[in-house]
Formats: sequence, C-alpha cells, structure tokens
Amino acid sequence: MDHSTTKKDLGAFITFEGGDGVGKSTQIKLLTEYLRQSGYEVVLTREPGGSPGAELIRKLLVEGPADRWSPLADALLLYAAREDHLERTIKPALKRGAIVISDRFADSTMAYQGIAGALGRDKARALYDLVVADDGPDLTIILDTPSEEGLRRAVTRGGDQRYESKGSGFQTRVREAYLEIAASDPARCVVINAIGEIDDIARKITAAVRERLAHKDNGL
Ligand code: TMP
Repeated sequence: MDHSTTKKDLGAFITFEGGDGVGKSTQIKLLTEYLRQSGYEVVLTREPGGSPGAELIRKLLVEGPADRWSPLADALLLYAAREDHLERTIKPALKRGAIVISDRFADSTMAYQGIAGALGRDKARALYDLVVADDGPDLTIILDTPSEEGLRRAVTRGGDQRYESKGSGFQTRVREAYLEIAASDPARCVVINAIGEIDDIARKITAAVRERLAHKDNGL
C-alpha cells in the first residue's frame, strides 16, 4: 500500500479484476501514475489485504494446500479481511476525496469462490450484502485473457499460489465467471482485452476511467 497527497478532490473507488496473470499489476501502476500526474491523490491498495489486519489474514489465505479451508471458512476469512480493509483503508480515503484503486475486491470472491468454486453465488451475495452493501466500487476494470495464457503466466511468476494451484479448468471457470459478473452489472464493469500492447491496453483503461467517472464532475 502506498499513499500520496495532492490538492484535487474526487473520491472514487476503482477496482481491477481478472484471472491470475492477466497483467493487472502493470496496468494498475500505469493508471496510478497517470492519475497522480493529473494531480489526484491516489490510494493504491489490494486484496486479500490492504490494511494491517487484512494483510495478516492474507497469509492464511494464499499459503498452504488448496483444500486448507472449507469453502465457507475461506469466504469468511476473505470477508473478514474485506471488512477491515473497507473500514480502515478504503472508506477513510474516499471520505477525504482520494481515488482508491484496489487490485481485486469483492468480484474476486464472487468469481473464484461463488461461481468457479464450491461456495455458490447465494452465499457470496449474502456476504457481500452484509459487509459491502452500498460501499462497492464506482468502476470495475475486468482484464480478460484466454485462461490458458493467463494460467501459463501465473505459474511462471512464482510466489504463494494456493488459489492458482487449482488448475487450468478452474481458471477457465474464473474467466467465464468474470464475464457473467460484467454482463450482470454493465454500468459498473468494463471488460478490456488484456492480450496486446501494454500501452494500447493502458489507453483503453484511461478512456474507461475518464468516461465512467465523468459524472463525478471532477475534470478527469
Ligand atoms: P493476487 O495474485 O491478485 O494477489 O491474488 C491472490 C489470489 O487470491 C488470486 O489467485 C485470486 C485469489 N482471490 C480469491 O480467490 N478470492 C478473493 O476474494 C480474492 C480477493 C482473491
């Protein structure tokens, strides 16, 4: 996590979503630089994690064997972390007018656990309503790639891979889950093809941010 302060006042919550290895980090970095250069305070954060307590819970989630937690225990840990992240990091930043960019948020739980995993949509939705309710993102950028390509990249990048270890069939279901989420909420979600030149993808993301957040009347 990383904070900086400038004068402009906005208060917008942007999330990035997608399967493993779709290039989210690179694009988040580029959008953050663009917005900071335009004079906005940007709070860059991530899930699981994004606050000291949530980062402790993250270690329980991303390490160990894939079946370490039951589907419901997994989702409750994700939502315990999300509650702390919202209360300690996201809401205070939005309140003071910052743009919050989160690398993953609640759509990850709906995609990975609710739709592709064994939790089910209804339980994922119930937890969302309990914890997030009206505090969800203004804009969600979903980076989409054919899942085989995404999985290949995720496996070669190393690190803690509890969720990534579920295999390419699972990654295909995650991709389809994101497309379903985007179709169900087109006012919030923008799907961007993440295969191609980094700068071209960045331009599409910048255009989506400008277009979708223009109603906030902030001069983006
Ligand atoms: P990351 O690689 O983007 O840091 O994410 C770590 C893993 O956590 C990734 O495989 C996706 C997974 N994840 C879920 O399964 N559900 C969630 O709610 C979140 C936030 C992440």
